[in-house]
Amino acid sequence: METRVIKADPDTREGLELLREAGDVIKAGGLVAVPTETVYGLAGNALDPGSARKIYEAKGRPSDNPLIVHIAKMDDLKVIVQDIPDKALRLADAFWPGPLTMVFHKNPVVPDETTGGLDTVAVRFPTGRIMQLLTEFSGGFIAAPSANRSGRPSCTRAEHCIEDLSGRIDMIIDGGEAGIGLESTVIDMTCDPPVLLRQGYINKSMLESVTGPVKTETGPQEHPRSPGMKYRHYAPKGRLTIVRGEKDSVCRRICELASDSSRLGKKTAILAPSEHLSCYGDHPGIRLIDAGSMDDEDGIAHRLFAILRELDEEDTEEIYCECFDTPRLGSAIMDRLTRASGNRILNV
Ligand code: TXA
Ligand code: MG
Repeated sequence: METRVIKADPDTREGLELLREAGDVIKAGGLVAVPTETVYGLAGNALDPGSARKIYEAKGRPSDNPLIVHIAKMDDLKVIVQDIPDKALRLADAFWPGPLTMVFHKNPVVPDETTGGLDTVAVRFPTGRIMQLLTEFSGGFIAAPSANRSGRPSCTRAEHCIEDLSGRIDMIIDGGEAGIGLESTVIDMTCDPPVLLRQGYINKSMLESVTGPVKTETGPQEHPRSPGMKYRHYAPKGRLTIVRGEKDSVCRRICELASDSSRLGKKTAILAPSEHLSCYGDHPGIRLIDAGSMDDEDGIAHRLFAILRELDEEDTEEIYCECFDTPRLGSAIMDRLTRASGNRILNV
């Protein structure tokens, strides 16, 4: 299949026309990669079982891992979900449109294929104008997982989608870099207190300021509420090791590990915040990557997946990384890094 790559500026007539064409592709059962404010999504018609099957196939994703349904107006929520708890309405008021996904009991109109066989459905109302228009033009309900091949870091640029999905889907809409760079926060509203299933830009205390206490699903589980959480995610091809502890010890240990690895002839990289780069000095053969300033956690989140992909392109074999326990996004950033490392954390 030939994948068409388009640039559609929603503020021009031509751009709108292209987005209408993309909407038609989805209506006809095709797949389109599209930018959202979090990461690029792989969009198909959420109410069509055949489209859901195609999404799983294009991504190489296990079919028991449910898809998020995206809407572009609040009124459409009640079409696809059964009951909307008051707390969900309050969260929607506070954070929709935005990077928050809520899980509800589904209506029969949502096919089992879309929800991986679950009787619940995850719903998000994104901010991005391209995504909103595409949703409207394609009939109102878009199923969109992140547009990466299963297991790889999510796509934050159109080039990432081209790399992962070219030849496997109908169209890619190039809308530049995704703003946030981490996937949405996922919260289960079918129970009280609600349960935080995936950390994201809307953090726990922001949620709790609206709903009161929120529980967190902890530790690896055999039957997690969020099936996606049992799969290895965001993984670069090289081996990622997170080193945690007091700054000087972390730096010393990373230097030792990276030097050993480089001496063995392995392509080696160190990922650290701008403030700590000087601790590592300049070692030939070791690539030092600036993750951004600890004072700019948005920047760190925004760059993270692109950095992991860049390391893949360079065939990096060993990556040593500091912790980024920043106040607001630290838990989301460390959640992604921990998964990317397959839980390889060294405490020093
Ligand atoms: O920011 C995002 O959320 C992006 C953009 C494209 O919207 N989408 C995204 O989708 O990250 P995906 O499929 O890569 O991740 C969705 C997560 C998975 O961990 C999945 O298991 C969980 O949400 N999920 C989906 N439906 C669920 C449900 N009914 N119950 C529990 N978890 C669900
Ligand atoms: Mg994903």
